[in-house]
Amino acid sequence: NPSVGLVGWRGMVGSVLMQRMQDEGDFANINPVFFSTSNAGGASPSFAGTAEGSTGKLENAFDLETLAKLPIIVTAQGGDYTKQVHGELRGRGWDGLWIDAASTLRMNDDSIIVLDPINRDVIDAGLSAGVKDYIGGNCTVSCMLMGLGGLFKNNLVEWGTSMTYQAASGGGARHMRELLKQFGTLNNEVSSELDDPASAILEIDRKVLATQRSGVDATQFGVPLAGSLIPWIDADLGNGQSKEEWKAGVETNKILGTGNGKPGKDHVIMDGLCVRIGAMRSHSQALTLKLREDLSVAEIEKLLDADNEWAKVVPNTKEASMSDLTPVAASGTLEIPVGRIRKLEMGPEYISAFTVGDQLLWGAAEPLRRMLKIATG
Ligand code: HSE
Repeated sequence: NPSVGLVGWRGMVGSVLMQRMQDEGDFANINPVFFSTSNAGGASPSFAGTAEGSTGKLENAFDLETLAKLPIIVTAQGGDYTKQVHGELRGRGWDGLWIDAASTLRMNDDSIIVLDPINRDVIDAGLSAGVKDYIGGNCTVSCMLMGLGGLFKNNLVEWGTSMTYQAASGGGARHMRELLKQFGTLNNEVSSELDDPASAILEIDRKVLATQRSGVDATQFGVPLAGSLIPWIDADLGNGQSKEEWKAGVETNKILGTGNGKPGKDHVIMDGLCVRIGAMRSHSQALTLKLREDLSVAEIEKLLDADNEWAKVVPNTKEASMSDLTPVAASGTLEIPVGRIRKLEMGPEYISAFTVGDQLLWGAAEPLRRMLKIATG
């Protein structure tokens, strides 16, 4: 079994990855070497199914010599770790595979964004060409492509806008906690009035608003999210676009292999606005797509359903949309519900769609797990 260094396995994405690897029995095929940035020398975790000989002490995640002995390193430690360690390791001539959840290396010319149900051809070509860095994509991009792979892979999308509804988990574990605390603070503020059916709703609303404006802890998000939204995610690129919005275009094209984000043949134009909402761990997005052909809704749904086993078409009815096309329905599952598919008034080639996906599964951990599986045969 190949030795695989695991870094950042204790964090939120890392924990989901470890759970998925246990669920799929992946530890039987590797010899895991667990690293830590803070607790080197401590005991390794004893995950069920871990191959013999893999337990022992945690290695130091900054010890380049130990890292450099491994043929494969998987990290969910975050971008700062990647920045600090990856370049130095490569500088020493390390030529192992680096599988990473962080965005740091994503748009490098010598890296591949992994989402194998969509771009197995790009991954295989990379492996044959000796590419060594395999990076998980942005969560909204990965979830969108998993849901709409049947259109994108068949080169049927000329352009699209993606208006997102992104969950707190995209910010991190502390952001999820903060959101829940904000909900609690707001509820506490008006709980006696809520218990009294005769109380005035406008008075409740006034108190909630006053608390949102002055009384909730918003250390992580910067502004209240509970009962509100934040129409900006990630850095300000200075041209009116957020970094999260920029990723939609460049990463979609890099994943599909349509010009590494540079305009060219089959380049897909993707742009839109990214918005944080008070969902927990599933990102949603409303899409407007301009197709290259006038396809019927039935044909589109057939293509989407047939593309991969996780995309699940939700009939465009009120009942099905409300029950199956929500963060509550999708969270904790690998399914990517895709619905609200209909022709828009703009013309026969314009359609709407709505997708939801667990930001920690297909949005983060699952593409890495599957890449490791591909790499280890
Ligand atoms: N940038 C994403 C978000 C995280 O903030 O929701 C996953 O790529």
